[in-house]
Amino acid sequence: MSADHLYPVPPAVAQHAHIDAPRYQALYQASISHPEQFWAEQARRIDWMTAFSQVKQTSFDTEQFGIQWFTGGQLNVSANCLDRHLAERAEQTAIIWEADEPGSAIHISYRELHAQVCRFANVLKQQGVVQGDVVTLYMPMIPEVVIAMLACTRIGAIHSVVFGGFSPEALSSRIGDCGSRIVVTADEGCRAGRRIPLKANVDAAIELLGDRSVNQVIVVRHTGADVAWDARRDHDYDQLMSRAEAHCPPLAMDSEAPLFILYTSGSTGQPKGIVHTTAGYLLYAALTHETVFDYQPGETYWCTADVGWITGHSYMVYGPLANGCTSVMYEGVPNYPDITRMAQIIDSHKVNILYTAPTAIRAMMAQGDAAVQGADGSSLRILGSAGEPINPEAWNWFHQTVGQGRCPIVDTWWQTETGGIMVTPLPGATALKPGSATRPFFGVRPALVDNEGQLLEGEAEGNLILLDSWPGQARSIHGDHSRFIETYFSTFKGVYFTGDGARRDADGYYWITGRVDDVLNVSGHRMGTAEIESALVAHQQVAEAAVVGVAHDIKGQGIYAYVTLNADVQPSESLRIELIQWVRREIGPIATPDCIHWTSGLPKTRSGKIMRRILRKIAAAEYEGLGDLSTLADPAVVDHLINEHRRIS
Ligand code: PRX
Repeated sequence: MSADHLYPVPPAVAQHAHIDAPRYQALYQASISHPEQFWAEQARRIDWMTAFSQVKQTSFDTEQFGIQWFTGGQLNVSANCLDRHLAERAEQTAIIWEADEPGSAIHISYRELHAQVCRFANVLKQQGVVQGDVVTLYMPMIPEVVIAMLACTRIGAIHSVVFGGFSPEALSSRIGDCGSRIVVTADEGCRAGRRIPLKANVDAAIELLGDRSVNQVIVVRHTGADVAWDARRDHDYDQLMSRAEAHCPPLAMDSEAPLFILYTSGSTGQPKGIVHTTAGYLLYAALTHETVFDYQPGETYWCTADVGWITGHSYMVYGPLANGCTSVMYEGVPNYPDITRMAQIIDSHKVNILYTAPTAIRAMMAQGDAAVQGADGSSLRILGSAGEPINPEAWNWFHQTVGQGRCPIVDTWWQTETGGIMVTPLPGATALKPGSATRPFFGVRPALVDNEGQLLEGEAEGNLILLDSWPGQARSIHGDHSRFIETYFSTFKGVYFTGDGARRDADGYYWITGRVDDVLNVSGHRMGTAEIESALVAHQQVAEAAVVGVAHDIKGQGIYAYVTLNADVQPSESLRIELIQWVRREIGPIATPDCIHWTSGLPKTRSGKIMRRILRKIAAAEYEGLGDLSTLADPAVVDHLINEHRRIS
């Protein structure tokens, strides 16, 4: 089947969908021609405490840069996600929590979640947290992380969730960057039967921070493991909760008050603390969640993303809860204890909408149909994919095997910085092409430019940019607003540059081709090559390192590291293992290099710039067509690299 095979909208889906094809056309046009009117109308889905006076004041021009939505308005995010549902659906399950080990699931109703959030908001207040403080959450996938996030929003504190797979080093730099004095964590996390020493990692991170340090740590006793305890700093979550009051009024927050910081990787070494604000983010998350997944009241929805990434924020927490949805939250990994686990969870909770990542789909596909062996799967209605390009083979497998040929797949393109889904099919409106993210969401104006910034019309391939603002857009990089403007709005003047390349076909469908900068996407985890390089060169015996991505069957991209050792050091198997461990320790297991290529030299221009284009080609064994080598300081390096690569592979 060709990648361009067209899957029309199933009539049964179109009939009951929120948005069908004519409505998509009409609403999209309206959202582009009259954005203020369109978004004012959409803003009714928010419960406002004070009405806004202006919808949109935005400029991407670096001279008069500014992004403000719904100015003058006030709201509270936790009230929108909880309190307003109490009248109608207090007893409805908000979260179905499924533990790492099969067989134990917990249902938490909106009423219970509301009560827990209010209590924890009071706990935070008692610990001295006030509006505008940053609270770091380093948590496993357990309901307490959702409680902590919403509790922050209730009192106007800003959360910074750090993925539980990051090392103490990575955690400490993220705590240090946002100046957070309080961390919420758990004794341990559980993944695939293994224990993750979260509290010990927090202790190590605080040690690394020295006197800029954290003075409060709240610990959820999740596994009950014995952990080191500093009575002056560490607090037991349950003890604090048992003493806290269950009543906590939600604070009225300005539309543009910061809601959270989320660190993500860019092309430079230092992760960026992306700042999202209150009203626009919540509205965009809620609207996209409802329309992109065609969520209908009463349905059960499962987003498999970890809460440490933006997908977990927007589509496990804020979008679904704002819409009063019942969500599955799963602690573990898709293939534990075996490859049928996802199908088992779908059947046991009658999941209607499944949102996952290509890497999970490919891991299942690698085992033929075993992933759905013995499963019913009839509850599924809509499938979704995000985080990396989905290859047509994986798309077709997902569609046939998991979706039984019946369920539309929404391949959603977006980024940490966009806050919500940007280019995507809508199940009732868009005919699908495997591998294409298809068309823009309401209010989104994508375009393609060449490297000189010239707009490309019609069928074309180029750099993906966005011409105008949308409410869910990030507003800044924490502590470095000029880096924000520089990174996203300066490469091409007056527009937002995504860092992605894309192709637009004759039907106007977008096909994301991947990053055009030095950012890798490994199993849907975004990582800067510079971060991995700086971890490698921090090792005493490494002189120089260059990291590139290389195609990987399951992970999408693997990490290929060229390493030059100090003159007196010989490469060895034990050093290879040591370096891999070293990177895992510096960043976390997600950054584990797949290949270490020992080399005596890297291809550099005469001005000393490493030519990554050449390194990418050699890693992919594409020895021909390396392009212009005349600017290399030492062209002989290329032959050495090719010979070394031949020996490795
Ligand atoms: O390269 C694009 C890829 O993931 C990047 C954003 O990663 P992150 O900030 O972690 O946000 C993930 C939100 C899903 C993008 O720049 N990407 C994301 N979705 C897709 C994708 N690439 C292709 N197709 C997608 N659907």
